[in-house]
Amino acid sequence: MHIESITLKNFRNYVQAFIQPCEGVTVLAGANAQGKTNVLEAIHLCCTGRSHRTPRDREMIRSGQDECYVKVAGVRNDGNHEVEVAISQLGRRRIKVNGAQVGRSGEMLGHITGVLFSPEDLRMIKDGPAERRRFIDMELSQLRPRYYYSLQRYNRALKQRNALLKDISVGAQAEDSLDPWDSALAFTGSEIMHLRKWFIDKLLTFASVINTDVSGGTERLELTYEPSAKLLSVPEETRNAYLEELVERRTSDIMRQTTGSGVHRDDMGVFINGDDARFFASQGQVRTCALSLKLSEIELMRQDSGEAPVLMLDDVMSELDPERRRQLVKRLSGVQTIITCTDRDDLAGADIGRLFSVKNAVLTPEQE
Ligand SMILES: Nc1ncnc2c1ncn2[C@@H]1O[C@H](COP(=O)(O)OP(=O)(O)O)[C@@H](O)[C@H]1O
Ligand SMILES: [Mg+2]
Repeated sequence: MHIESITLKNFRNYVQAFIQPCEGVTVLAGANAQGKTNVLEAIHLCCTGRSHRTPRDREMIRSGQDECYVKVAGVRNDGNHEVEVAISQLGRRRIKVNGAQVGRSGEMLGHITGVLFSPEDLRMIKDGPAERRRFIDMELSQLRPRYYYSLQRYNRALKQRNALLKDISVGAQAEDSLDPWDSALAFTGSEIMHLRKWFIDKLLTFASVINTDVSGGTERLELTYEPSAKLLSVPEETRNAYLEELVERRTSDIMRQTTGSGVHRDDMGVFINGDDARFFASQGQVRTCALSLKLSEIELMRQDSGEAPVLMLDDVMSELDPERRRQLVKRLSGVQTIITCTDRDDLAGADIGRLFSVKNAVLTPEQE
């Protein structure tokens, strides 16, 4: 797929902007804090239903304004797709897909698909499990919108259950009030687990090959799903075991006032040549691995939907050494790419189709 245009109104520091990227590589170049990442954030919002930088929608509204608006128009094999999101100070979202208003934010997923690679992703391997879960959530939500809904329902139930845990004390009757939340967590949690397992296995089929290639044949990558609850062969069995575990742990959950087990505690194991990369990887290995994971996301989406997503590279070129940069650039053909950078020299090797300079939220087309 490719994006034809991006329209912003009162989004972050933009009063108004209209950008038409080319089908190949488009570059947004400029000094820090001018508005480069903001453009990618707006695209990412239309791809995944959320910002990659904040869980608080209102932060995206330009200071002093009532509402922000983003429209991304793209073309897929089956025709035009358009996603519009307006966010008000009241926290309300109005979403349109192909011109028609939709009720749930999950309905915007799968129309504009994208993979964002930013410096934070380089830390994903060594940071805590939350970062690795975020990586999985972003991609899987685009691939399978029902995953997004399950995650939403799970998080809501978890919040309710944790609130209740703070209010009640140990005792049979009080514990009954946990029943509906335990059922909801087991139901949505088991669905999330099976989709995560599917995703990680699938991702590995690409990542192991790509990582070997990017590392020049020296590093063998393995990914494993490390669920907090027990994963059984079919969702129904997983659900029953999950529910049993929640009930069993009630007493300790009430004492700790929080839900101790479940998909909010999942992790993804990353191993390089058999060693746990979360603890032992060198900086170089971490970079190769993060790059391989991102490139694998593209291949997985390409295989799953028949077309490549848009690739957004936020200031990562400067983080990669010349060899890894070369590895990245050689895989960009056939993938619409939007790159932000402060120094154009970092782009050496990329075949730039369109270039914009970004200064104080104004995008100016430049001759390449
Ligand atoms: N809600 C907002 N309203 C107005 N300006 C904002 C808002 N959020 C961020 N900004 C401004 O956006 C700029 C950062 O934009 P960003 O795209 O991250 O910069 P960069 O070009 O370094 O990627 C900063 O100047 C910041 O003050
Ligand atoms: Mg930036």
